[in-house]
Amino acid sequence: MAKLLLFALLAPYAQALLRFSCSQLVVERLDPLVNPGTPQSPHVHQIIGGNAFNISMDPSIAPADQATCTTCSFAEDFSNYWTAVLYFRAKNSTFKRVPQKGNVGFEQSNGGMTVYYTPTLSNGAQPKGAVMAFKKGFRMIVGNPTYRTEAQAKQFRQLTYTCLQNMNTRSPETLDFPKKPCPAGIMVNVRFPTCWDGVNLDSPNHMDHVSYPSSGTFENNGPCPSTHPVKIPQLFFETIFATEQFKNDWPADGSQPFVWSFGDATGYGNHGDYVFGWKGDSLQKAMDANCNINCPPLKTQTIATGNKCAQSQKVKENIDGWLTELPGGMPVM
Ligand SMILES: *[C@@H]1O[C@H](CO)[C@@H](O)[C@H](O)[C@H]1NC(C)=O
Ligand SMILES: *[C@@H]1O[C@H](CO)[C@@H](O)[C@H](O)[C@H]1NC(C)=O
Repeated sequence: MAKLLLFALLAPYAQALLRFSCSQLVVERLDPLVNPGTPQSPHVHQIIGGNAFNISMDPSIAPADQATCTTCSFAEDFSNYWTAVLYFRAKNSTFKRVPQKGNVGFEQSNGGMTVYYTPTLSNGAQPKGAVMAFKKGFRMIVGNPTYRTEAQAKQFRQLTYTCLQNMNTRSPETLDFPKKPCPAGIMVNVRFPTCWDGVNLDSPNHMDHVSYPSSGTFENNGPCPSTHPVKIPQLFFETIFATEQFKNDWPADGSQPFVWSFGDATGYGNHGDYVFGWKGDSLQKAMDANCNINCPPLKTQTIATGNKCAQSQKVKENIDGWLTELPGGMPVM
């Protein structure tokens, strides 16, 4: 009971929103969306979800039909979610991967992420089917790893950082890396667009088939544009990097010593990737039920069970020592 109360207090909005944790599946240089069939992708990712994650993933095969386990606490979610990882740049210019950690109440081993699917943020009852769950084969990306300016980052509205003063800090959010040390770590917030063209499960840049509302925001129930008329759930994930572990080797000028694995020291290149993989219509049922961390229509598993579902790196390389360059030789620029 105490734990449920805690979750209620931590939820950033008063309305119902599906919220759960997924442990780490693997950390490696693979990207079946942007670089399918390519071992290895240019930069390191951290991946959660079903163990059908692979070098390439055929959109005609449901991940739920291939996976044998998932790291997520909702046991029917075989989706994959991934982001880049942070590296610490030491005074001697070597790099060390920043470990992740679970959210309050979510005891994932090896970090993982907290995932949200929000059907609506308007008050009152949710009409059944008001939001359409993603379909088999659906994928999308939000954000652009080549961006390095605030003007570019603003195109995405809701890719942000929270400098954690403690594990419950939720504001303010910034578009660039926090400027000062963050006592409890850096939380990376990735919110996806919430309108779909209703036809394409993917698009060449993995973005054009989805859109933000034409006016207003998802949060204030802004309408979808006519080009993308179908309202989809807001997918949102939080990743917490335990940056505080490096406080004893901080730059003398007090600046942030962190860089993304794709060589971004600004933070403006923040991005996230999604491959839908819920079993059958389980996600639609959860959206129609408008449920929260407790979601009776869904099957659950313990976080400890999710922790056991892990993959080993398919292409072995050292991503965790003190490295003289970022994996893949990614330049910092
Ligand atoms: C990943 O793909 C390879 C090659 O296509 C295949 O042999 C392997 O079984 C796949 N692994 C998983 C976990 O699906
Ligand atoms: C660089 O600095 C890190 C952190 O202080 C240290 O652990 C590592 O051994 C150093 N590497 C070299 C080559 O001096």
